[in-house]
Amino acid sequence: MHDLKDYLEKNKDRFLEELFELIRIPSISSKDAHKEDMYKAAEWVKESLLSKGADKAEVCDTEGHPVVYGEKVIDPSLPTVIIYGHYDVQPVEPLELWKSEPFAPEVRDGKIYARGADDDKGQMFMHFAAFEYLVSTNQLPCNVKFMIEGEEEIGSPSLGKFLEDNREKLAGDVILVSDTAMLGADVPSITTGLRGLSFCEVHVTGPNRDLHSGLYGGAVANPVNVLCDMISSLVDENGRITVKGFYDEVEELSQEERAEMARAPFDEEAYKRSIDVKALKGEKGYSTLERTGIRPSLDVNGIWGGYTEKGAKTVLPSEAHAKISMRLVPHQNSDKITRLFRDHFLSIAPDYVKVEVEFLHGGEGYVSPTNTVEYQAASKAYEKTYGIKPVPYRSGGSIPIISMFEQILGIKSILMGFGLESDAIHSPNENYPLEQFFKGMETIPHFYHYYVEGKK
Ligand code: BES
Ligand code: MN
Ligand code: MN
Repeated sequence: MHDLKDYLEKNKDRFLEELFELIRIPSISSKDAHKEDMYKAAEWVKESLLSKGADKAEVCDTEGHPVVYGEKVIDPSLPTVIIYGHYDVQPVEPLELWKSEPFAPEVRDGKIYARGADDDKGQMFMHFAAFEYLVSTNQLPCNVKFMIEGEEEIGSPSLGKFLEDNREKLAGDVILVSDTAMLGADVPSITTGLRGLSFCEVHVTGPNRDLHSGLYGGAVANPVNVLCDMISSLVDENGRITVKGFYDEVEELSQEERAEMARAPFDEEAYKRSIDVKALKGEKGYSTLERTGIRPSLDVNGIWGGYTEKGAKTVLPSEAHAKISMRLVPHQNSDKITRLFRDHFLSIAPDYVKVEVEFLHGGEGYVSPTNTVEYQAASKAYEKTYGIKPVPYRSGGSIPIISMFEQILGIKSILMGFGLESDAIHSPNENYPLEQFFKGMETIPHFYHYYVEGKK
């Protein structure tokens, strides 16, 4: 692949312009108003795959947003790599904090700024470019299938059924995904773990209407105060989650495994500086990388109730609500944790309020072994472009569908992410450094090469 760098260099402006076209489609999966945009983005993905050399590509309807499937099968006796990615993005609020429009991509200081620049349009597109290179230079060493969904950011509600209905079409040897991060721009790393998730909304109701906070204040329980008390009791002073049975199945790593993890380079001062906090907080007895990688967590993602507009309104609200996410680690089961959480939350409800717990979505975590052909191929690929052997590390994020690929299709995934913590995914001013974008494109073809070599 002596011509790889040349090829990328020659085509880099076009690749960027193509990615920008996709980014300009505001494919926010969680909002009904963007239903049409989901089809537009899916069509764009299909056309792009065809233009880059797929033998066929189709937009497949589901009960939710469509899945795009594409393939190039050169020889059924060769291995098949399945590329997974998602064309949907997160909402963009708060809009006033963006320096440029979220769906008007622009390059500043060597970074692409836009919603989806990293997660996952930018990372997914690296695979399209790598595929184009391999096909157009006649170096594709195996079969390739693409499965690009539009519901990742809302928990992939339709993809499980798509997998069940399309088992044969989706036959393959490995699923290759770029939707995670590296530890740093000069610290190539391979994600070997993802956390599971249980996401709930809780509702606390007090009096049957908003009350005058002077006439009633002090005599009637305030649901917002009660909700805050309940929430603050969920994590104790040692950073342990108090939900009964919560830790029963948590996988405890051996001292050797933890020592191995501690070898991953991590600059805690830079981490604090990058998010502008003086000190970190988490479960006692664990390092920061352990707290996000191998330990579960519980966070309020949003909380509301009462009067939140401008100015004062003296009111004792009738209701309070919160969105609570729990990140789970291997062996914890999302359904079981949701049940434990609901039981616990109802059990701590005082009798002066009514409490409801509503489950929104969840999924299982994932661990990828390092002694496999695909891990070794990924490792060699990074080493080839970066000149350093990548470190395995467990990420705190979730991609619940990855465990379903294994359950339903029986296929393992390999997580070759090129994002950086500083990319601000899901936040205002999401960005993706051009260097990561092009380094990713350069690394992926090497993966194909080493993978097929390793399978022989
Ligand atoms: N790409 C992210 C997950 C991610 C990012 C994993 C960086 C590791 C490193 C994905 O799009 C995402 O945002 N997942 C959601 C879960 C989903 C069910 C809404 C998450 O982790 O919050
Ligand atoms: Mn993603
Ligand atoms: Mn995301």
